Amino acid sequence: MITFVTKFDTMENRLTKSAILATFLALMPASGFAQLYKNADAPVADRVADLMSRMTVEEKIWQLNQAGFGNNKNINNIGEKLKHIPPQIGSLIYTDDDVSLRNAMQWKAMEESRLGIPILFGYDVIHGYRTVYPISLAQACSWNTELAEAMSSVAAREAKSGGIDWTFSPMIDVARDPRWGRVAEGYGEDPYTNARFAIAAVKGYQGDTLSGEGNIAACLKHYIGYGASTGGRDYSCTEISDQALWDTYIPPYQAGVNAGAATVMSSFNDINGVPSTASRFLQTDILRGRLGFDGFVVSDWNAVEQLVSQGVAADRAQAAAMALNAGVDLDMGDNAYAENLAALLESGDVAMETIDRSVALILALKFRLGLFENPYTPELPVEKTMLQPAGRELALRLAEESMVLLKNKDGVLPLDKQLRIALIGPMAADKGHLLGSWSGHGRWEDVSSVLDGMKDRFGDKVKYSKGCDFDGDDTSLFAEAVAAASESDVIVLCLGEKREWSGENASRASIELPVIQKKLIKELHATGKPIVLVLTNGRPLVLTEEEPLCASILEMWQPGVEGGVATAAILSGDINPSGKLAMTFPRHVGQIPVFYCERPRARRDQGFYQDIPTEPLYDFAYGLSYTDYTYGDINISSNADGTYTATVAVTNTGNRDGLETVHWFVTDPVSSISRPAKELKFFEKKQIKKGATVVYSFEIDPIRDLAFVNSKGEPVLEKGRYILTVKDKIKTIEL
Ligand code: GLC
Repeated sequence: MITFVTKFDTMENRLTKSAILATFLALMPASGFAQLYKNADAPVADRVADLMSRMTVEEKIWQLNQAGFGNNKNINNIGEKLKHIPPQIGSLIYTDDDVSLRNAMQWKAMEESRLGIPILFGYDVIHGYRTVYPISLAQACSWNTELAEAMSSVAAREAKSGGIDWTFSPMIDVARDPRWGRVAEGYGEDPYTNARFAIAAVKGYQGDTLSGEGNIAACLKHYIGYGASTGGRDYSCTEISDQALWDTYIPPYQAGVNAGAATVMSSFNDINGVPSTASRFLQTDILRGRLGFDGFVVSDWNAVEQLVSQGVAADRAQAAAMALNAGVDLDMGDNAYAENLAALLESGDVAMETIDRSVALILALKFRLGLFENPYTPELPVEKTMLQPAGRELALRLAEESMVLLKNKDGVLPLDKQLRIALIGPMAADKGHLLGSWSGHGRWEDVSSVLDGMKDRFGDKVKYSKGCDFDGDDTSLFAEAVAAASESDVIVLCLGEKREWSGENASRASIELPVIQKKLIKELHATGKPIVLVLTNGRPLVLTEEEPLCASILEMWQPGVEGGVATAAILSGDINPSGKLAMTFPRHVGQIPVFYCERPRARRDQGFYQDIPTEPLYDFAYGLSYTDYTYGDINISSNADGTYTATVAVTNTGNRDGLETVHWFVTDPVSSISRPAKELKFFEKKQIKKGATVVYSFEIDPIRDLAFVNSKGEPVLEKGRYILTVKDKIKTIEL
């Protein structure tokens, strides 16, 4: 420790020695002393402490700010013009893919700022950077977390090559209201499913070590409860009981934190009147105190300033103090910290310790990422870094495994290669909408359309006709489509949503197909030709009217760059569909919220809708295959350590190999609080060759798999009977 005689004896009463030392060091040129913080072999904590000791208050405050940089191409965010970016800024959302521009900005930080602290470049790499994969909701329907992890790893490598150090992903908001456009971005209605895919994404993005080649920092979002937005209206309030908070919304975050997620993003919504971004209970007591998170929290875009519109802050200054004191370390987008923290420090509304805590967390990530040693991105030709064959192959597999066969009457699918096919609909030749929302730097020209895929597989047996636009009332193309259908043996009808109809700020009161598309189906149904409906959408749709008119229905979701190839592979039978729903499809929008793990009604034989059937159109975990599986009985054995091993044998009784996911549900029929009718506690996907039998097993840890958490987040394991369900098989465990 450096000691020195100071001539500020009178000041000494007002300042501690460390504060004087910090001020003294801060005024010295950084090159004046041994720079421990630049020693890559030193422990991160020591490097942080050394750097902090050299920083001025202003430099510290700049580290807590993130601005937008580059031309924002994301259809989900309004364009962000390039602001004057000071070299001391902590982080930038880099929406461009020009590596030299990113390096030029980083050079400014490294060479023009006094201490040469690198900027942390973040971006929304949600389901791919340039190679775009199926949307997350589709990935969940694949139930293949290994593929999802591999996807995240490739996406990280591409993003790193594009100058990105940090992704605002995975989005793990449990969501049960398909009117909310952001259901597309998460992993559906079930907490356990979101938890498993959170782990896969964090491991894929971050690899074994953050400074590893091609690894980027992950960000669990949107903490917390955003998926419960009232009425499915984005940015609206949420009512979440403590029990629901612990039961439903926290488990994916606990899983992501345990997987080592480097950051968390605070959400827009208020919970029971307290916006998440202003809630010390959520951002500090729970997230850090109970879940053990040790990274930093970034606000969502303008979420700090929005505390004013949410009615809890009188102005931006108060909003900044609330958010920072709650535990939100980095302010995204609104400059509220940059403009107010110095004055708030002066007024005592914010303590220096609070600022120091946040700065230290942000610097620690920069050190862990190796940004001080490698601040710049190699400028390589995109042909070597983007859309590599391995990534496209992965995109194809994930698309194939995420599509869900919802109906297949009379075995219309798979299509015989000799059939004359009328390929109709606004989605048939489309490419851009197959990318879905938040598609990073994906380009429509990278995409294989359904028409491309079908032409490759069925050649001149395919006759294409657009039929209609996505919406509007122009029926002028109907006649041509009907004529094409009349000259065919089967109609493959590609309908659905535009990509901007889901994602952020994309709530929809109706989740049915547009009227013009409904009219087209009816016109084509009148030809008497069987219809195979292929859907591209970012949310569950109400298909009640269309279901009877179609022989087969394939949920393609928004499948990414290999969507057309994957769809044609399934329609031709070259691939046996294996997807199952991760989110319930309502029969009517009036049923919402409707999801599989509701708690039981007081009268199980009453309380039904008077005007429509009460059960949804397609259930959670529903999905068909071209083959058939027979499930044996569940066997359970108890182990010496108090755990149980449950097994079930599944036989492929059909004439095609297949991939089958087994879902293990637990029911606690009598409990001190009412438990959901059933809860998913494990799933596993395996290949089963035709005629073969494969045994699936579930290692049951009673605390993990049978206990529930109470409203304080404490696990409660009660004596009694527990019911294990797989398909229609059940077995009980007596504790
Ligand atoms: C948006 C989204 C968030 C995203 C962020 C940065 O408003 O809510 O998911 O990561 O801003 O683009």
